[in-house]
Amino acid sequence: MRDFLIAPSLLSADFARLADEIGDVTAAGADWIHLDVMDNHYVPNLTVGPLVCAAIRPHTRVPIDVHLMTLPVDPLVVSFAEAGANTISFHPEASLHVHRTIELIKTHGARAGLALNPATPLALLDHVIERLDVVVVMSVNPGFGGQAFIPETLAKLRALRERVDATMQRTGRPLLIEVDGGVKASNIARIAEAGADVFVAGSAVFGADDYARAIGEMRGELAKVDEVSEGALAEAR
Ligand code: DX5
Ligand code: ZN
Repeated sequence: MRDFLIAPSLLSADFARLADEIGDVTAAGADWIHLDVMDNHYVPNLTVGPLVCAAIRPHTRVPIDVHLMTLPVDPLVVSFAEAGANTISFHPEASLHVHRTIELIKTHGARAGLALNPATPLALLDHVIERLDVVVVMSVNPGFGGQAFIPETLAKLRALRERVDATMQRTGRPLLIEVDGGVKASNIARIAEAGADVFVAGSAVFGADDYARAIGEMRGELAKVDEVSEGALAEAR
């Protein structure tokens, strides 16, 4: 069976109790912690900076997956890498030099992700895909939690799955497909069938009374998906 990772997004957590929330959701089975960084400029919302990432790092025993929705990107790459981010993803529209930003992330010791908005074509990956560790497919427009999954994402994921498999064969390196926005137990199996490896879920996890039950329901749905896509996950843990 294919391995899948669940990455609860702190955007829907109680920000007054972040360390407890992280402990609870990790005990409930979270594989990564997703940290949404919004700047009230690239997206119409404002969240947290590297100080908060550094503050939660000692309380987090799984990888921290930083999602930069900021413009510019590069100075924050350095700050978040120093704050202990394991993966740093950014949006190509927010960087003047996408290749340079990817290299900046990697030289600072983090895994590099490129995040594609719903209207951003896969062609943006053309000349950089072999350097990436993660492709983040946005299944909502970035800026807010609790939005509905955009159904056109499924066709995009299927096309990306083929490209990613071909790329991994060429490079021999793992490359994960992460989907972000509107993921819940009722649609996660279809999203997995379409090709995703990593599932960001904010409101579906932190909005539930019982995090273990919410994550358990997702895993139950994922267990029904028996499509095979090896290789990418061993190094991601
Ligand atoms: C949206 C963020 C998402 C968000 C997902 O801009 O990037 O990570 O937290 O929240 P849900 O799962 O509620 O759609
Ligand atoms: Zn996100």
